[in-house]
Amino acid sequence: MKRKITKAIFPVAGLGTRFLPATKSIPKEILTLVDRPLIQYAIDEARAAGIKEFIFVTARGKSALEDYFDHAPELEATLRKQGKKELLDTLKATNMDSGAIAYIRQHKAMGLGHAVWCAKRLVGNEPFAVILTDDVIAAEKPCLQQMVEAYAETGGNIVAAMEVPPEKTSAYGILDIGEDMGSMVTVKNMVEKPKAEEAPSNLAVIGRYILTPNIMQNLSRLKKGAGGEIQLTDAIAEEIRRGEKVYGFRFRGQRFDCGSKAGFLQATVAFGLAREDLNGEFSQFLAEMTALRRAAE
Ligand code: G1P
Repeated sequence: MKRKITKAIFPVAGLGTRFLPATKSIPKEILTLVDRPLIQYAIDEARAAGIKEFIFVTARGKSALEDYFDHAPELEATLRKQGKKELLDTLKATNMDSGAIAYIRQHKAMGLGHAVWCAKRLVGNEPFAVILTDDVIAAEKPCLQQMVEAYAETGGNIVAAMEVPPEKTSAYGILDIGEDMGSMVTVKNMVEKPKAEEAPSNLAVIGRYILTPNIMQNLSRLKKGAGGEIQLTDAIAEEIRRGEKVYGFRFRGQRFDCGSKAGFLQATVAFGLAREDLNGEFSQFLAEMTALRRAAE
């Protein structure tokens, strides 16, 4: 029987060095697209998919994340007194239920697979989701919800997938495709960050996963893989070798790589333009900037 997915792991232990000096004192997950931190987008997506328990794998220097999810009674009281109902609603929408969040520390940066493994006891013997907050996905139906619906049909392990330019395969987990059914593919093997000439395809794993509990067992036994780290990709590939099902899911939506500066800027522009309250002024500004640049060329 397929069990409901109610737990999600958010690996947020990374140092975020690509965003230094900002990340010297702010976790990268608190960096803001328009007015919401990256982590809020991930949480909202998980909630939409029916997730009830949120497991953060953190590290030193990430306490701002815990504060972010705490309720803010003084601030709420002030806004109430000032009659700022809209702001109050915005603030309250970020409140999490008591007991819904767990934090566990990854003491050593040993890779994504190791970070996920740190949540082993909290996950127990249930299928679970993993969300990488660097991958922000704008979609009519949130990506993880699309995947949960697909999982209700197929069961097994499902990874979000997207075609990337062949020269970019070395930045991703890459799928070796068995049967291609359009939005779903069966996966024969997975390779972490292969060079273009060694990649089995250009269908890349994007940071959304639905995984069976056995992945945790595999992680317990794993040796270091690509980049000298314990790789989640390798633990999923191990399931295929054990004869278990792994699917790639071509989600509907636009993905932004907010782990890179260019991707973060693109997301800022896209999310800014999508906001009714900002669209007019912002699109006019962009048009003017573009015209100025053209004239200067
Ligand atoms: C991780 C995974 C990789 C996946 C990518 C998606 O890599 O290891 O398989 O394709 O996320 O964003 P990272 O970007 O953390 O190096």
